[in-house]
Amino acid sequence: MADKFDVIVIGAGPGGYVSAIRAAQMGLKVACVEKWIGKEGKVVHGGTCLNVGCIPSKALLEASHKFVEAKHDFADMGIEAGDVNMDVKKMMARKDKIVKNLTGGISGLFKANGVTAIEGTGKVVSSKQVEVTDQDGKASTYDADNIVVAAGSVPVEIPPTPLKEGLVVDSTGALEFQETPKRLGVIGAGIIGLELGSVWSRLGSEVTVLEAVDDFLPMVDGAIAKETQKLLKKQGLDIKLGARVTGSEVKGEEVVVKYTDAKGEQEMTFDKLIVCVGRKPYTQGVIADGVGIETDERGFIHVDDQCRTSVPSVYAIGDCVRGPMLAHKASEEGVMVADIIAGHKAEMNYDAIPNVIYTFPEVAWVGLTEQEAKAKGIEVKTGAFPFAASGRAMANNATEGQAKIIADAETDRVLGMHIVGQHAGEMIAQGVIALEFGSSAEDLALTCYAHPTMSEAVHEAALAVEGHAIHMA
Ligand code: FAD
Ligand code: NAI
Repeated sequence: MADKFDVIVIGAGPGGYVSAIRAAQMGLKVACVEKWIGKEGKVVHGGTCLNVGCIPSKALLEASHKFVEAKHDFADMGIEAGDVNMDVKKMMARKDKIVKNLTGGISGLFKANGVTAIEGTGKVVSSKQVEVTDQDGKASTYDADNIVVAAGSVPVEIPPTPLKEGLVVDSTGALEFQETPKRLGVIGAGIIGLELGSVWSRLGSEVTVLEAVDDFLPMVDGAIAKETQKLLKKQGLDIKLGARVTGSEVKGEEVVVKYTDAKGEQEMTFDKLIVCVGRKPYTQGVIADGVGIETDERGFIHVDDQCRTSVPSVYAIGDCVRGPMLAHKASEEGVMVADIIAGHKAEMNYDAIPNVIYTFPEVAWVGLTEQEAKAKGIEVKTGAFPFAASGRAMANNATEGQAKIIADAETDRVLGMHIVGQHAGEMIAQGVIALEFGSSAEDLALTCYAHPTMSEAVHEAALAVEGHAIHMA
């Protein structure tokens, strides 16, 4: 029998590594088990987010956006950039360097906080025991008073479009293209489809996005979703709604995709195809039979509001449990669970989790849409402000989009904030704070905002709730 720990965390993604560090900061003896093999053949920390998710995708989004600015927008500002070209391999190398720095940084944080990093595949074998199998197949068992499962998620594969390396890929493959495909197909107009579709469209691909449902971004307020769709279309993304993919055929270097839409059977040919139709929990094999931890039919580990599983000493957090599959949600659950294990009272406000789509402009939201609030029978009042009327947006050459606030008509309490516009992902923190503190729209309207900032659109939207926006006729 090896060491005994207060807490063993399985998985070192943003859920697991944050939970392990927090638990160690609370004075607990902690180990974190990770099996992810990085590009250099060694175990790396950081999970999906750092290795093949949030960070590499944002590195490509930023680089491709700067390329578009330099190529098309600088001239408006009087900047003569000459002939602008993108070296895709260099862009990829930069992305890989950022990933390497960050994943390596977690090992440093573990050391600094006294977290024991265990390499291998972890399995919960009893309510207080984790078995770890290393790369050579050697198994060791560790005792722990508490176990946190943070095993994450993997992309969903669909029978009509089996993956084929380098040609039909998931999001991980789409972060590795070494040249810009001429015709790029994207299945799913979800967050990954729009972000990665944008990257390659900016670099010159003809991008077609096939989306099964008729509604575009149904989780975003209708007005904001509509404007986003218009803006992305203007940028060249051909988003086909109500287009359900039914089959595909690889023909040499191309892939022919069959789909059905309102007009019947259709087909299109692409040089690369990205399948991004959602992610599923990665829980198979993480819990031994007979431990008594319940999972649902899709593999999500069943937990209560404080991430307790059906076995009291075992918690589960992040993408492998209910709720949005977001890095910051996983991390906050990790902190909550560590605090509970350390004997503190802790809870999370699931109604105030922000979402951001890092297209240009960004789409960000928190709380209810106007449509959701009405469907719940809540009488609402709303205020919106277009960036076209913002001085800072004009100076920034970023006048597209709007900020919208949804408030309870009776109490004035802010129920939701939805924004499409440059830096929406930064601005949405104001909506999160408003929801967290139970602010009224008037509270925001009476707050002094710095001028000139993009955030003034939030201020004006709050003023607009009572019809008193200053810079809007
Ligand atoms: P993961 O990050 O998946 O980590 C789980 C870890 O557990 C992995 O390292 C895995 O190897 C390990 N593991 C699993 N089973 C075992 C086992 N048995 N033993 C040992 N280790 C194990 N979210 C955002 O909030 N913002 C974004 O901008 C964003 N962009 C994204 C872009 C892309 C392309 C993708 C794919 C995802 C993106 N996400 C984003 C989602 C985000 O990556 C996830 O929500 C987040 O990583 C979930 O964290 P987690 O810790 O629950 O799981
Ligand atoms: P998603 O759930 O966001 O979108 C998948 C889309 O595919 C849906 O619109 C669905 O209707 C469509 N679809 C499903 N089957 C289809 C078919 N046969 N034909 C056509 N369309 C089909 O999933 P996605 O984009 O794969 O992302 C997974 C998760 O990763 C996100 O939900 C999010 O939680 C996380 N993520 C977060 C990011 C962020 O925070 N910026 C960025 C990227 C991912």
